[in-house]
Amino acid sequence: MEHITAIVLAAGKGSRMRSQTPKQFLEIGKKPLLYYSLKAFEESSVNDVVLVTNEEYKEYCSKDIISKYDIKKVRKIVSGGTERYWSVWNGLEQCKGTDYVLIHDAARPCLTEKMIEESVSEVRKCGACTVGVPVKDTIKVVNVKNEGIDTPPREYLWQVQTPQSFLYNDIVKAYEKMKISGDTDITDDTMIIERYLGKKTKIIMGDYCNIKVTTPEDLMVSEIFLKKMKKVVDIEGRWC
Ligand code: CTP
Ligand code: MG
Repeated sequence: MEHITAIVLAAGKGSRMRSQTPKQFLEIGKKPLLYYSLKAFEESSVNDVVLVTNEEYKEYCSKDIISKYDIKKVRKIVSGGTERYWSVWNGLEQCKGTDYVLIHDAARPCLTEKMIEESVSEVRKCGACTVGVPVKDTIKVVNVKNEGIDTPPREYLWQVQTPQSFLYNDIVKAYEKMKISGDTDITDDTMIIERYLGKKTKIIMGDYCNIKVTTPEDLMVSEIFLKKMKKVVDIEGRWC
């Protein structure tokens, strides 16, 4: 039987947010950001979830999110690493025997079940895919003096989001090669497949609401999106 695992990354420090509490635990609609991703996977066809977080937040995640909101699919909580890709690796090591993994940033609370199901169906076809959105702005390439040196055609530029989905054996193989290479310029997982396995990855339409909460104003924006998605209820229990 086919097995699909989600790796949810919640081990970052959130330095650009400049808050005491790491951003994945800041609250929107009285629930921590991480809750929204776990809930979306809970209601999807994914079989189980490996949660990656910092040692000091494991108990909080377990008691105040997973138990409190009756999340049943989290199979393991593992420690993260110093960089995002080490956190991914720690998660991958806990998924042996699975067929596909969906890697997702807990800092993206506006994930939908639709995005998850479309990722699952695409990864079955092509082995490696990510959700993303076409860029809206013109993108400039600059040199060290901040002089524009190129303006790539917008029709070929996409902003990449998560979940990013892979055949488990492929992503592990790619990571093993990445580890040997010593490269440190890794910003997402599709680039690991492209660079170290030489395989193509597919981009499917995500959603402009699927933002990564990074700086303080993103919290306000994601609250609006979550309300629009009817994931946040007001104090009387009505959908906002
Ligand atoms: N992440 C992780 N382990 C790390 C770094 C990041 O699990 N060592 C996770 C974050 O918790 C987040 C996601 O990866 O859910 C995307 O990373 P990013 O937005 O860069 O989060 P932070 O690294 O926490 O933020 P910053 O870069 O501002 O410090
Ligand atoms: Mg970071």
